[in-house]
Amino acid sequence: MKTEVLRMLKETDDYLSGQEICERLNVSRTAVWKVIKQLEAEGYEIEAVRNRGYRLRFLGDVLSQAELESSIDSEWAGKNILYFDETDSTNTEIKKAAEKDAPHGTLAVADYQSMGKGRRGRSWAAPHGVGIWMSLLLRPELPPTCASMLTLVAALAVADGIREVCDLEAKIKWPNDIVVNGKKVCGILTEMSTELECINYIVTGIGINVANHEFPEEIRDVATSLYLETGKEVRRSQLIAAIMRAYEGYYDKFMENQNLKSLMDVYNSRLANCGTQVRVLSPGNEYTGMALGIDEMGELLVRTEDGKVCKVISGEVSVRGIYGYV
Ligand code: BTN
Repeated sequence: MKTEVLRMLKETDDYLSGQEICERLNVSRTAVWKVIKQLEAEGYEIEAVRNRGYRLRFLGDVLSQAELESSIDSEWAGKNILYFDETDSTNTEIKKAAEKDAPHGTLAVADYQSMGKGRRGRSWAAPHGVGIWMSLLLRPELPPTCASMLTLVAALAVADGIREVCDLEAKIKWPNDIVVNGKKVCGILTEMSTELECINYIVTGIGINVANHEFPEEIRDVATSLYLETGKEVRRSQLIAAIMRAYEGYYDKFMENQNLKSLMDVYNSRLANCGTQVRVLSPGNEYTGMALGIDEMGELLVRTEDGKVCKVISGEVSVRGIYGYV
């Protein structure tokens, strides 16, 4: 009921009478009043005027089940929400949900993760109130070899969401870091469960630094947040909703060909490394070259000094800028 009341308040610019809420939801006045009090306690500013009703005066950066359900308007991505004030890792939550038959598109979101996981076995700092820590469950009918491409699809959706909501020129550092002004603002960790050459499910974990005012010394040169780049507060639910909308569109296009053929151009236009000198670090083989963009399998094409074009496969290697992080 909280979700419905919130949705009704968000949809109405003017006052919404208590009577109308009661009738539409078939509940008592007292029940409505209690929900209004709960919403106020969560951080919403609600004006109550006798004989006129309730009006949402200020939407702060509230993260809750009701806030997410009343914000996300995509068809399947993020339709089923699992919200946690705190958890160990949303990737772990999604794996548990997947084992209990949660549907394709289920999204776990946490305000805090005590054991956030990063790529290459690293940990991922996920403090309270400052980030988007979320994981999306996918059940595509694809061979496991195609799974890594879905991480690139997620990177595109995050870049678009940030561009739309924050008006920032978010770029992608291949394969799936999102950078703003040359610093990392988001990382993506994809995990997969397979069975007999089929994908059982995929978990795409997305961590976005939203409201951090500073970072530890060791990563200050390479990490940033949306707040540090814009100086403005971002409503996390609004950004999550924009990312889910973008994700759906890109995912459908990806599934048409089961590769990145129709997304290559837009991906390359967002690629921070495009046309830059990069150092490719693969076990036992290190070289530098010019990054040309991705191909339809999501491999990075790098032209070495002798004119040869090498294909770099994500997951196996890391690619660094030779002058900095990008
Ligand atoms: C990276 O190392 O760049 C990937 C970081 C991914 C972090 C996110 S936060 C939400 C999800 N849950 C996790 O434990 N990790 C991912």
